[in-house]
Amino acid sequence: MTANNTSTTITAVKGRRVWDSRGRPTVEADITLAGGAMGRAIAPAGASRGSNEAIDLRDGGPRFGGWDVTDALKGVNGPIAKALIGLDAADQNAIDQALLALDGTSNKANLGGNATIALSMATLHAAAAQAGKPLWQHLWDQGGQSGTPVLPLPEIQIFGGGAHAGRRIDVQDFMVIATGADDYEQALAWTAEVYLAAGKIMDERGLLQGVADEGGFWPAFDANEDAAETLVQAIEKAGLKPGEQVSISLDIAASEFGKGGRYRLAREDRDMDSGELAEMLLGWVGRYPIVSVEDPMSEDDAEGFIAFAQAAPKHLQIVGDDYLVTNADRVRAGSRDGAVNCALIKPNQAGTISETKAAFDATRETDMGAIVSARSGETEDVTIVHLAVGWGAKQLKVGSFTRSERMVKWNEGLRVADALGSAALPPKSAFPWG
Ligand code: PGA
Ligand code: ZN
Repeated sequence: MTANNTSTTITAVKGRRVWDSRGRPTVEADITLAGGAMGRAIAPAGASRGSNEAIDLRDGGPRFGGWDVTDALKGVNGPIAKALIGLDAADQNAIDQALLALDGTSNKANLGGNATIALSMATLHAAAAQAGKPLWQHLWDQGGQSGTPVLPLPEIQIFGGGAHAGRRIDVQDFMVIATGADDYEQALAWTAEVYLAAGKIMDERGLLQGVADEGGFWPAFDANEDAAETLVQAIEKAGLKPGEQVSISLDIAASEFGKGGRYRLAREDRDMDSGELAEMLLGWVGRYPIVSVEDPMSEDDAEGFIAFAQAAPKHLQIVGDDYLVTNADRVRAGSRDGAVNCALIKPNQAGTISETKAAFDATRETDMGAIVSARSGETEDVTIVHLAVGWGAKQLKVGSFTRSERMVKWNEGLRVADALGSAALPPKSAFPWG
């Protein structure tokens, strides 16, 4: 490769070990350009991971529970730096292709998805910085979309369970979506009231066990459904109207307790098949103001997914996370099968920005919804907020409404709103429940 002389030519690549919200090592990457701009990004990490995600490269062994990333960093500061220096950061696709070529696997097993996503996002930040624009603006301008961007509608966790809370309850996320909010600021303000009200209720009943990985309450419920019931009470206690102003959304993360069409709710000591699980979940959808259900079935249960979608009311958003793993082909297939009508978009599941964007574009093509999402292991990195605004994704999922690795992202949205001069959300008609 020959070095060119534009201001966006990469002149330096640096990887370092930093620490995530679970106290585990992760990869931070700095990309410096000839024009002097620098971009920086940090890889997040999932706990309830889909088996078809890009693989994080971890050292294994005794140090830090096997989570260390020294091998991934050796790649970043060695062969990857060598391959990227001299390339044009303004050509994101070329950068990501170079990473893919050097890795040579289908799941980033060689370089590590943690290395590739940090580098890919850092490149994007560097290009935006060199252009003198905030990242959301850079992406919006590149996308050639008309009008001005809006803020994504937040999906915010109140109770955490599953793999994020010692499996104290089986369902992973009980969240709220401020479906009636006039703007992003109001959505956050309403969520804050619901979070406080939920905390008071839990405290009074002696049901608080701790803080789950994404910052929500780690509850001591006897049954999964108690969480939905309590959430409705919290919305009411906050002086808000359930289903009208604030609705409920669930991430079942069923791959964590099911396989091959068989499911086990350990909390309730119940075994069930896909049909029984669907019946239970759709019963909740009938009884509570639930507007969105993510991964209602396990990643290997396409039949269960399709049957669930066919039986679900039309207003229900059915989100594929482990099922789609931010992969464009899987998004198209999921749309074709009618298994889902919305995709979770997690950059580190794909491993590069270009592949993440391809998955997002596939949701547009197929008229599906898209929720840009954080992981359970997070940091001060706010890239996903900019992706959501700059790409025009209508929803954002970041975990709860506590702890700085979450709040830094919600707060970044407020700053973008200030820059835009408006905290407007997508029109209510843009959502299945609208
Ligand atoms: P994860 O959880 O980051 O642990 O995968 C988030 C989710 O399942 O949506
Ligand atoms: Zn999920």
